[in-house]
Amino acid sequence: MKKIIVTGALGQIGSELIEKLRSEYGTDNVLATDIRKPEGETSGPFELLDVTDGKQMSELAKKFGADTIMHMAALLSAKAEENPLFAWNLNMGGLMNALEVARELDMQFFTPSSIGAFGPSTPKQNTPQDTLQRPTTMYGVNKVAGELLCDYYYHKFGIDTRGVRFPGLISYVAQPGGGTTDYAVDIYYKAIEEGKYTSFIAEGTYMDMMYMPDALQAIVDLMEADPSKLIHRNAFNVTAMSFEPSQIAAAIQKHIPDFQMAYDVDPVRQGIADSWPDHIDPSAAIEEWGFKAKYDLDAMTEDMLAKLKKKLS
Ligand code: SER
Repeated sequence: MKKIIVTGALGQIGSELIEKLRSEYGTDNVLATDIRKPEGETSGPFELLDVTDGKQMSELAKKFGADTIMHMAALLSAKAEENPLFAWNLNMGGLMNALEVARELDMQFFTPSSIGAFGPSTPKQNTPQDTLQRPTTMYGVNKVAGELLCDYYYHKFGIDTRGVRFPGLISYVAQPGGGTTDYAVDIYYKAIEEGKYTSFIAEGTYMDMMYMPDALQAIVDLMEADPSKLIHRNAFNVTAMSFEPSQIAAAIQKHIPDFQMAYDVDPVRQGIADSWPDHIDPSAAIEEWGFKAKYDLDAMTEDMLAKLKKKLS
């Protein structure tokens, strides 16, 4: 039985990952940690943790008897561009602490990388698993360094590090914390609340995306995968769909025919999006651990709108 400590448990991925892990492994086997207190009731064990405090991270993991650490605390791409030094300290400091705790306690380790680990010189179509990675954002620099560090801890210390490169993640539970793909979440809220949306990403800008249930399943599947089958260990390309803003608008219009889309492009986030691939190739994840995604754009849109209508009413 796994005993898992999760950092950034109140974030966009963390808040749903906790529930998924508790349903798979038992409520008391999953310790949620975050720098802030949960607003309502918690569904199980919770501790306050600033991930830049490695000593406290180690103490909490020891006290809980954790054999697995899932490090989710990080600043996303647009926020990181606003304060690059803070992003470096939080993203890299937190990751190094989590890797050190994994080494000290010989734990299995997961952390997400991102499509942000690619840059303008990366092939944009069917971006291969192993390719040029020269990102031009602080977030991307952090993610590439993180991928390399996870590989390093595996080769040097034998730590069972695993990870994926997530695309933009879409969910109705928690909002993302300042990313470039956030438009594809905001649009659903505004479609229901106002019947219209002004996109900060330009028409024609393709990015990879995935619905949260598929992302959570991918984490569990990778962590459960037979290690002898893993040629790569970290930063597997995963994606469920690639679309541009007018396509998500059209998918919403199938349910809300009067929905209107306008554009007011934010040059910073547009610049970030333009530096990322249009569509990454997830075949290494499919071959090595059986990655699959259930939701395409239409299935996701139907579910998002239904769930959000309930949440917002
Ligand atoms: N969703 C993230 C972002 O936009 C990408 O990993 O920053």
